[in-house]
Amino acid sequence: MYTPSASRYAGTMTYRRCGLSGIQLPVLSLGFWHNFGEVTPEDQSRAIARAAFDMGICHFDLANNYGPAPGAAEERLGKMLRDDFRGHRDELLISTKAAYDMWEGPYGTWASRKHLVASLNQSLRRMGLDYVDIFYCHRYDPATPLEETLQALTDIVRAGKALYVGLSRWPREAAAVGYDYLRSHDVPCLIYQGRLNLFDRGVTDGGDSSVLALCRHEGVGFIGFSPLAQGLLTDRYLDGIPADSRMAHDPRYLQASALTPARLESIRRLNAIARQRGETLATMALTWALQQDGVTSLIVGASSPQQLVRNAAVVNSAPLTPEELQAIEAALQAAHT
Ligand SMILES: NC(=O)c1ccc[n+]([C@@H]2O[C@H](COP(=O)([O-])OP(=O)(O)OC[C@H]3O[C@@H](n4cnc5c(N)ncnc54)[C@H](OP(=O)(O)O)[C@@H]3O)[C@@H](O)[C@H]2O)c1
Repeated sequence: MYTPSASRYAGTMTYRRCGLSGIQLPVLSLGFWHNFGEVTPEDQSRAIARAAFDMGICHFDLANNYGPAPGAAEERLGKMLRDDFRGHRDELLISTKAAYDMWEGPYGTWASRKHLVASLNQSLRRMGLDYVDIFYCHRYDPATPLEETLQALTDIVRAGKALYVGLSRWPREAAAVGYDYLRSHDVPCLIYQGRLNLFDRGVTDGGDSSVLALCRHEGVGFIGFSPLAQGLLTDRYLDGIPADSRMAHDPRYLQASALTPARLESIRRLNAIARQRGETLATMALTWALQQDGVTSLIVGASSPQQLVRNAAVVNSAPLTPEELQAIEAALQAAHT
């Protein structure tokens, strides 16, 4: 039997307003991409989600296809909502997504109205929910008219199946069209979700014409995913590949080939800078990402409650100074030499 901590909003987490909306998000949100599928013991998933909630991390990020098997993470959350978080639904901001491969045939993927609506209905059933807080189009679909996708998102909100909508991984130009369309249909886009970490800053490319700058300009929130580069930006891989690491036991999206000698050298140098600051590399990597102008929250993954607790230290971490930022750039260059 789990009783949520009575002090869950008493200071561990801090919150930032999501664009121009009424929603505030914890600076760290919990992602369900890994560690919530059938391959992970249920007790482990529960411990992570409970630790998050106990720290005031009240935003859980899911997608139709998170598993394995696809759909398993939503089913597991559904179970936890019934067992652990019963009575706390209104404290939780739950997001899900559709547009990646989910079922056989032409309607099981991409961003047609048919796929988005059918997929969300399935997600709601798996989680045992009447509505999600945020429904994302998980990727831009070049073959479906943008208006069809955007009108489907609008109608999903009007039908009460989602409170807000978001776009994930859309190119800047398509996102700009999306923001206009959604605003003019009285369903302003709440949030954009894109990858953001020290090794991958595509969303900041182009300065004033970047994806992140567009969010700022349009009053749309930004949530960064994989801020630790799936664990590379931690001390996990400094001395080899531990047997219990993602790279060793679930290399679907993180293979040993990502750990080149040059990349490892960068990680070592970054780790040294973090130690000089008196913090872990993970904390410094999160501090860097939260320091990017326009970022509302970061979706972290965790394979244990302890990782989450350690990463929450970011809340008290000092901003990176210009000198430290310079040293970080130099450390990153090592990966290219
Ligand atoms: N929109 C999209 O297309 C998209 C794509 C990807 C992800 N996402 C979202 O973003 C979320 C997070 O992605 P992610 O899991 O790649 O995030 P991440 O935070 O970059 O990586 C998380 C992993 O890093 C390791 N880790 C975390 N804290 C650590 C610490 N203090 N010390 C050592 N290792 C630590 C753990 O891996 P170990 O297993 O090695 O312990 C953990 O599972 C996903 O769950 C999903 O919600 C969205």
